[in-house]
Amino acid sequence: MLIVRDAEEAEARDIAYLLNLAGEGIPEYLWRGGVKGKESPLDVGTRRAAREEGVFSYTRARVCTADNRLVGMVLSYRQPDPYGVGDLSEYPEVVRPLVELEAQAPGSWYINAIATFEGHRGKGVARTLLADVEDRARAKLCDRLSLIVASENPGAKRLYEHIGFKPVTSLPVVPYPGCLHAGDWILMIRDLQGA
Ligand SMILES: CC(C)(COP(=O)(O)OP(=O)(O)OC[C@H]1O[C@@H](n2cnc3c(N)ncnc32)[C@H](O)[C@@H]1OP(=O)(O)O)[C@@H](O)C(=O)NCCC(=O)NCCS
Repeated sequence: MLIVRDAEEAEARDIAYLLNLAGEGIPEYLWRGGVKGKESPLDVGTRRAAREEGVFSYTRARVCTADNRLVGMVLSYRQPDPYGVGDLSEYPEVVRPLVELEAQAPGSWYINAIATFEGHRGKGVARTLLADVEDRARAKLCDRLSLIVASENPGAKRLYEHIGFKPVTSLPVVPYPGCLHAGDWILMIRDLQGA
């Protein structure tokens, strides 16, 4: 049976690993800049996910377990409204298109990352996590869900379309070392009003 619950600090490594999968390798690329001594980029991600503050904190993550084993994770939160991007040049180049797209869905409940461990895919984990996100957004009286998907990640895009997300606008991916795709980042929105 799949169970969804709040993530725990001790799960920061799994969360960081899954964040990197969901972020198409951008997190690992950014974590490389924070490596100290013999640390790996995943060690840096784990430290960041274990903090209580910051976008990638475990406190924003919900995990899905099967037989008490963590099989997937979603990290989501409400975007500010209004969403001012400020000075874009202060962001690493690779994340600028993502910030610009995020800013076009102010006040929405934003799914920053969702991923399922490789051996547990195709068993409804992501669907279960997305249903949990919807419940949380509705409970907070938020009437729109948003997310960003790569145009060259058709499996994920199809999943979102199946549950009612619609593409709104897109911007080209800025290439980075380890980049999985060229193509575009697509902002998708799901209207919860009347749904
Ligand atoms: C995308 C991802 C989260 C889906 O997770 P999952 O737990 O396997 O998804 P589910 O089992 O809940 O599948 C939900 C539906 O999407 C379909 N689906 C999921 N991944 C698919 C893929 N790669 N190709 C085709 N269909 C896919 C399933 O067939 C299922 O359809 P159905 O409910 O009509 O049968 C998972 O493939 C993953 O972690 N990918 C790497 C990270 C990633 O790309 N995250 C999204 C970034 S935006």
